Amino acid sequence: VGENAGIFGPTALITDPNVGPLYAESCQTDHVITLPAGEQYKTLASVQTIYDALLAANLDRKGSLLALGGGVIGDVTGFAAATYLRGLPFVQLPTSLLAMVDASVGGKTGVDLPQGKNLVGAFKQPAAVLADVVTLQTLPALEFSAGMAEVIKHGLLAAPALLHQIETTGQTASPIALRSLLLRAIQVKQQVVEADPYEQGRRATLNLGHTFAHAIEQVSHYAIRHGEAVGMGLVAAADLSARLGHANPALTDQIRGWLAQVGLPTAIPAHLPPTSLLAAMQTDKKKDAGKMRYVLLRAIGDPLVTDQVSPAAVVETLQAISLPTNS
Ligand SMILES: NC(=O)c1ccc[n+]([C@@H]2O[C@H](COP(=O)([O-])OP(=O)(O)OC[C@H]3O[C@@H](n4cnc5c(N)ncnc54)[C@H](O)[C@@H]3O)[C@@H](O)[C@H]2O)c1
Ligand SMILES: [Zn+2]
Repeated sequence: VGENAGIFGPTALITDPNVGPLYAESCQTDHVITLPAGEQYKTLASVQTIYDALLAANLDRKGSLLALGGGVIGDVTGFAAATYLRGLPFVQLPTSLLAMVDASVGGKTGVDLPQGKNLVGAFKQPAAVLADVVTLQTLPALEFSAGMAEVIKHGLLAAPALLHQIETTGQTASPIALRSLLLRAIQVKQQVVEADPYEQGRRATLNLGHTFAHAIEQVSHYAIRHGEAVGMGLVAAADLSARLGHANPALTDQIRGWLAQVGLPTAIPAHLPPTSLLAAMQTDKKKDAGKMRYVLLRAIGDPLVTDQVSPAAVVETLQAISLPTNS
């Protein structure tokens, strides 16, 4: 892996117990560090575990880190690479669909705090991203669906063709078909990030659905996966756009259709009350001078970032797209 990624020197690979046993050996690295799997381990404690292992292995600035796994491993490893000894090169080896199309590209790294998602982090571009679509064969089906939420997001932002491709490209599609889907989805992210690497403007559109999604993840105590929450967030963003007169309400139903097609939920579960979600959204980090910013959608390919959204409209949207409680 090192030479393919243009790095030489010693390497330490960070992975989790689901991915490591399958693929770590084929990466031929000097050290393997295994963190527990799951979003609840995307923490400063995991970063500390990495620092301890790197110091024990005497890895110095000539070394590099390799992140082998889903977005959690990529985000934590990237943050360790940005900070250990003031920074080392790192390589992303994404093995989940979500990490391949989104998390491994663009240089955002970080961890969650008890107060909310991704509250600590750094911009740190990987030296390379190497994704092997064959690893998707062992990805649990639910995780594949979760990744499709970000593919749909990229389709909605800038690549309508992707929305047709998801209809024919499931997890068991040929490597060639999967590769084509991935390339198109990655291209959307790459183009936006290259134009605005530090999120001064246009990059914020990549957060479509995410202000809602982060709140849904947090209030569910991460029982709802990031990708599932993003799917619900896309429905919410479309509903809010229509409610504020920016978009045709038919777009919301179309998005529900694509989510259902890839096996994702289209409504917020009843046990997550709109008021708790709104409170969580207000601590989400994408606040601008005390004002919440929302990414809305006028139409496919036409996003809009605005702070002109009342909390009342957000609550109406949350109520409209939540499942009814069984009372
Ligand atoms: N940095 C960014 O720009 C960015 C963008 C999007 C998402 N994210 C972050 O990514 C995270 C979600 O990533 P995720 O959905 O990959 O979750 P994840 O990292 O938790 O991986 C999902 C599950 O799949 C398993 N897995 C991964 N690849 C596998 C394979 N090939 N075979 C078998 N099992 C496999 C993992 O062990 C894990 O249990 C969230 O923390 C989110 O905030 C970051
Ligand atoms: Zn995301």
